[in-house]
Amino acid sequence: MAPPIAAHLTVFALLVTVSAAATVYHNHTVGGAAGWSFNSTTNTPATNYSSWASDQTFDLGDYLIFNTNSNQTVVQTYNKTTYLNCTADDSDNGTFVYDGGSRVFGEALTIAVPLTIVGPNYFFSDAGDGVQCQRGLAFEIDVQRGLGLPPSLNQPPPPPYQEPPGRDAAQSPPVAVAQSPSGAAFATRADASVAAWLLLLLLQFQ
Ligand SMILES: *[C@@H]1O[C@H](CO)[C@@H](O)[C@H](O)[C@H]1NC(C)=O
Ligand SMILES: *[C@@H]1O[C@H](CO)[C@@H](O)[C@H](O)[C@H]1NC(C)=O
Ligand SMILES: *[C@@H]1O[C@H](CO)[C@@H](O)[C@H](O)[C@H]1NC(C)=O
Ligand SMILES: *[C@@H]1O[C@H](CO)[C@@H](O)[C@H](O)[C@H]1NC(C)=O
Ligand SMILES: *[C@@H]1O[C@H](CO)[C@@H](O)[C@H](O)[C@H]1NC(C)=O
Ligand SMILES: *[C@@H]1O[C@H](CO)[C@@H](O)[C@H](O)[C@H]1NC(C)=O
Ligand SMILES: *[C@@H]1O[C@H](CO)[C@@H](O)[C@H](O)[C@H]1NC(C)=O
Repeated sequence: MAPPIAAHLTVFALLVTVSAAATVYHNHTVGGAAGWSFNSTTNTPATNYSSWASDQTFDLGDYLIFNTNSNQTVVQTYNKTTYLNCTADDSDNGTFVYDGGSRVFGEALTIAVPLTIVGPNYFFSDAGDGVQCQRGLAFEIDVQRGLGLPPSLNQPPPPPYQEPPGRDAAQSPPVAVAQSPSGAAFATRADASVAAWLLLLLLQFQ
């Protein structure tokens, strides 16, 4: 029969896992080893970016790291019409083009894009008159609140900033745990619960 300790250990492990997942920001390397790349000879993207994105969780304060070259652009938009049409409209305040400012073909670039708004974020390349995007150099993610924005990103501009919509807006009292800039309050609380569980475990063993 399963001893009660096993059950406690399971809960304990779950608790530690949940705490660990929620205390740090992540950098996501877009496309993994394939990078952000398009082969204009075969007219194919280097990997399936929708499939890449579907494997992970994206939170406020995370960065997308695009390992690419100047043959591609990185367009970030909150406008689904823009995304589906594969064209970057400069007049739209919800669309940002990161092209690295390079003027030569094939120059290696690393573009880091911070996630600063909760909800759907769309990314595509508008190089090649939209062909790269139409052929799959594009993906959508759904950004979660996570720990909230870190202080380094929680100020206007740059980068593109908007007060994240949501329940903890100005009228309600701030949620100290979620908004703790360094995550220190959260860590302290997690440590306290870990300590409590350890104590419980010790008691079980006696
Ligand atoms: C994530 O990327 C940003 C922007 O390049 C960088 O400042 C930060 O140090 C990176 N964080 C980690 C954990 O690599
Ligand atoms: C594009 O694909 C062709 C055919 O597979 C290959 O020969 C070529 O090296 C590729 N180009 C780049 C830039 O990867
Ligand atoms: C890419 O992957 C998604 C599922 O993650 C799939 O629906 C789609 O058909 C794939 N695209 C291609 C071109 O294979
Ligand atoms: C999205 O982009 C389209 C096309 O540029 C524009 O007509 C529309 O107003 C934009 N929507 C928002 C919410 O900005
Ligand atoms: C859609 O893209 C075409 C070019 O491919 C452009 O002429 C048109 O203005 C775009 N429409 C919107 C709504 O952005
Ligand atoms: C764009 O500007 C409009 C009007 O000022 C504002 O309501 C909207 O939130 C802005 N969108 C983004 C993504 O900044
Ligand atoms: C960039 O594009 C140019 C022109 O199409 C092509 O000759 C070159 O091979 C490309 N470089 C890379 C690294 O894809």
